[in-house]
Amino acid sequence: MHILLLHGPNLNLLGTREPSIYGDMTQTQLVDQVRQAAESYAMEFSFVQSNHEGVLIDTLQQTTADVVIFNPAAYTHTSIALMDTIRAIKVPVIEVHLSDLSTRERYRQFSYIKDASVASFMGNHLQSYLDALQYIKENLT
Ligand code: DQA
Repeated sequence: MHILLLHGPNLNLLGTREPSIYGDMTQTQLVDQVRQAAESYAMEFSFVQSNHEGVLIDTLQQTTADVVIFNPAAYTHTSIALMDTIRAIKVPVIEVHLSDLSTRERYRQFSYIKDASVASFMGNHLQSYLDALQYIKENLT
């Protein structure tokens, strides 16, 4: 079982970016924790971050992973293109967010990604990602 963790725009700034919302863990620290958890389940793990919608689309179209854990960041709320890609590929995608979108600004409360994904986990920072891994272990292996 090969897991791809895919991160959208500005998540490379975690640690210094609005820590009261996103926490003070850097992206590297977060990814290391997710990698360790995946490896403890004997899952292969890879990681890609991009600030560019087209790169995220290409990565999804070309992935050889079995499951993608995807935090699309702000593209969650704007990208019909990413929604179409998730619907077009055969690989299941799990949406994750650090913050709880349902309690944030109105424009963050709608996700184009949610309906195209097999599950969504949000609001618990690192734990949202670990919940996604647990979901994979219980439902997709
Ligand atoms: C986010 C929530 C998005 O609204 C925001 O644009 C992000 C991060 C989250 O993980 O909470 O960049 O996806």
